[in-house]
Amino acid sequence: MALDRELALELVRVTEAAAIACGRWMGRGDKEAADGAAVAAMRTVFDLINIDGTVVIGEGELDEAPMLYIGERLGNGQPPKVDVAVDPLEGTNILSKGLPNAIAVVAVAEEGCLLHAPDTYMEKIAVGRWAKGKIDLDAPVIDNLRAVARGTGKDIRDLVVVVLDRPRNSQLIQQIKAAGARLRLISDGDVAPAIATGINEEGPDMVWGIGGAPEGVLAAAALKCLGGEMQARLKPMTPAELERCYRMGITNPGKLLTMEDLACGEEVMCAVTGITDGDLLKGVRYKGNEVRTNSLVMRSITGTIRFIEAVHDLSRKPYKLPEDV
Ligand code: FBP
Repeated sequence: MALDRELALELVRVTEAAAIACGRWMGRGDKEAADGAAVAAMRTVFDLINIDGTVVIGEGELDEAPMLYIGERLGNGQPPKVDVAVDPLEGTNILSKGLPNAIAVVAVAEEGCLLHAPDTYMEKIAVGRWAKGKIDLDAPVIDNLRAVARGTGKDIRDLVVVVLDRPRNSQLIQQIKAAGARLRLISDGDVAPAIATGINEEGPDMVWGIGGAPEGVLAAAALKCLGGEMQARLKPMTPAELERCYRMGITNPGKLLTMEDLACGEEVMCAVTGITDGDLLKGVRYKGNEVRTNSLVMRSITGTIRFIEAVHDLSRKPYKLPEDV
């Protein structure tokens, strides 16, 4: 069953609620409380939406998360049946320190169309449509940089590559440096820059390296809407993580994952709301009960990208958001 285009606009209400609920924790050093607020708000608003959804990317498995756990049913049970990927607060550490690029993000696709990624790591390359068809996760770093430079019409030294600053990415970082590209090393939050590669040519050119697998599926869903590309490979780091892959039905965890594996089908929708200011969007602004949010809504079928600035009156919301922080 095709997805109703109005659903995309319903999804933004979900990410707005999560962002409003957790934005007050900015810089307060309590990432659990912030995450809890975002999860509860997102869960509440999902129930108001006409979908028969199943969480495939969420807060963890049932024994780890009371809400938005993998397998949880979302929505009011009306068709269509959809896969739902959520991250009510992507960047718990960055929000707790007040740093850029914390976002609330949701993606929806027809049932069976989003990769059921376990909570492990994933090696990934993300690019905007300018470099679509140019990347190859199995090719040498220099070949990828050359190809992306060709695709974007830039020199290698003009490219900006975003990499999570982790020891596991140090070899990649060295190779990118040696090739002469520009680097932005980030402490957390690789979804917002991955989406930013697809918005316009002012964003970073590539997001590369090993980060979270659930975050990879969310970024891929957004890039599908934006006409960009991602390639990825799961990187379970321990036997327990490998076991987790098998339990989630992944029989070949070493497989190269293309867009078709990550987010397939005719219609993928994605909504993102800024929590802190960042690459993509401004963060939440509060003035008493008046709250401003900036969001992005995308559909793969049309490729339309909507930037939505909303002014909310919290005293008139049909649902309650946590007020006291
Ligand atoms: P949170 O789960 O705290 O929101 O962190 C998100 C994130 O920074 C992702 O953006 C990134 O893909 C992943 O964590 C990196 O994981 P790690 O911090 O374990 O290297």
